[in-house]
Formats: sequence, C-alpha cells, structure tokens
Amino acid sequence: MDTVYGLIGCPVGHSMSPLIHNDAFERKKMNARYHAFHVEKNELKAAVDGIKALGIAGFNVTIPHKAAIIPFLDKLDKSAELIGAVNTVINKDGCLIGYNTDGKGYLQSLLPLMKKPLHEQRYLIIGAGGAARAIYFTLAAEGCSMIDLANRTKEKAEQLMKECPVKGEGSVLSLSEAESGLSKYDVIIQTTAIGMHPNSLQKPIEATGLKKGSIVSDIVYNPVKTALLKAAELEGAQTLDGVGMFVHQAALAFQIWTGETPDTARMSHLVYEQLGGFTC
Ligand code: ATR
Repeated sequence: MDTVYGLIGCPVGHSMSPLIHNDAFERKKMNARYHAFHVEKNELKAAVDGIKALGIAGFNVTIPHKAAIIPFLDKLDKSAELIGAVNTVINKDGCLIGYNTDGKGYLQSLLPLMKKPLHEQRYLIIGAGGAARAIYFTLAAEGCSMIDLANRTKEKAEQLMKECPVKGEGSVLSLSEAESGLSKYDVIIQTTAIGMHPNSLQKPIEATGLKKGSIVSDIVYNPVKTALLKAAELEGAQTLDGVGMFVHQAALAFQIWTGETPDTARMSHLVYEQLGGFTC
C-alpha cells in the first residue's frame, strides 16, 4: 500500500507541490503519493482528525491554515515555534509535529548568490504578512541585525518586528520611504502577492537607485520574472525569483518526512517547465 502525503489549504488547485513531490517519490522508488486536499477554514479540525484516522504520513499546510493549525497539533519543532506558523507536519505514530521550512527554504535559495556573510548585509523586506515573518525571523535568528521592514500598513510591520524574539537595529518604513532609500540595501526581498498573475504589471515599489551589486528577490514565482525583477535587472541588480524558495521549502519537508534528500535542481526544472517552458 502506498504511503500517503498531502497538502491542505484553500485554494490548492494550482499548487505545484504534488508535481514535485510525486516526481521525487518516483525517482527514489518509494511507494508514496502526494495529494492536494481542499480544506475550508471551518473544516480544519475535522481535516486534522481525518489525517490522524487515515494515517496520512505527513502533509504541507498552506494559506489560510498556517497559524490556525497550531492548536490541533501535538508538538512544534523550534522552527515553527519561532515563526508561529506551520507549513509542514509529520505524523509520527499518531503524534503530529509541526515544522516551518519557509524561512530556511528562502535562505537556502538566497545563499548561493551571497558574496559576503549573511550577517554583514543590509536587508529590506517588503511586506509584513506570513511570508515576511518567516523570512524576517529566520534572518534575525541567523544573526542578521540590519533588516528594515517596509509595508503599506506600517503598524503591521511594527508589530512583526516587536514580536521577533531576536532584536535588531532595523527600522519600519512606508513603501515610499523605502523606495527613496534603496541604495542602502545589499538584499531587497519582496514578500507580498503584488505582481502575481494576473496582476503581473504591478510592483510594490519602483526599483531605481539600487546599490551596485545588490540582490533583488521576489517570492512570487508566477510569473517567474515579476515586473519588480525585470526592473531590477535593467538597473543591473542580481535577481532571484520565487521558484528557489518554493523548491527548497518542499525539499526540506521531503527530508523531514522521508529522511531522503530530493534533487532540488530537478524540482526547479519541473516547476519552470510547468510555468511556461523556461528552464534554468
Ligand atoms: P502572506 O501570509 O501570504 O504573506 P498576508 O498575511 O495576507 O499574506 O500579507 C500580505 C502582505 O502583502 C501584507 O504585507 C500586505 O500589506 P498590508 O499589511 O498593508 O495589508 C501586503 N499587500 C497586499 N496587497 C497589497 C497592495 N495592493 N499594496 C501594498 N501591499 C499589499
């Protein structure tokens, strides 16, 4: 009998997680399958009970359940405790343990581009939602103290910074304040849904006046090259698209469930192919 893994969220119809996990199971010759399950907010507890009853071996959690699932789990790994959200759960003999691989996954996608140690860089994070929180808290835990946060609603960014257990020297900015001081940053990280299909012409800020050699990254991966990344590339910046974070968070989840390391280059290739034939 196949071991079953899955994803719960709403919506999940366009998720590429089944594609990359099922391919990895096939490559590793494992008798396992990964399915996406549409779970509405008011069905979350019932879904978790069902997962236990059916013996589903592990699952990913996406919008809108990443924080809401915590009370229904038996244990949290320190990654999930730090971030206050869960994107990966393993079922160990009926004990559900929650992890967060988003922040570490982002970091793994960023590291190959870095020319200096992480903590020596100055960062700007755009947005103050769940993804910004995972990335901010993970960078802070890695010793990065120079992280500014820019958000449409400044109060939300202030709250995020206040809640981070590791204190830094960064400031909270409006989007226009951030836009006028981009030359300060070594790494700019766009974490909102702005620019995502079908709004692919939108950018949260204009990418002008960037520091020479800086990195501009966008966690949006559909389109692969967002309007922000196109503009940053024209300004001479190095760019990082959202496929890397998506693939690395998935690979870390795969490792937690199976103890095996999947081929992340192959996973990226599959995602790029699915997104329109562009491969790296
Ligand atoms: P996620 O969990 O995916 O990060 P979220 O918690 O809904 O999503 O957060 C969305 C982020 O995108 C927020 O920072 C939000 O800004 P506000 O805090 O001001 O709402 C930002 N965002 C979404 N749409 C935006 C828009 N049109 N312009 C500017 N910021 C936007």
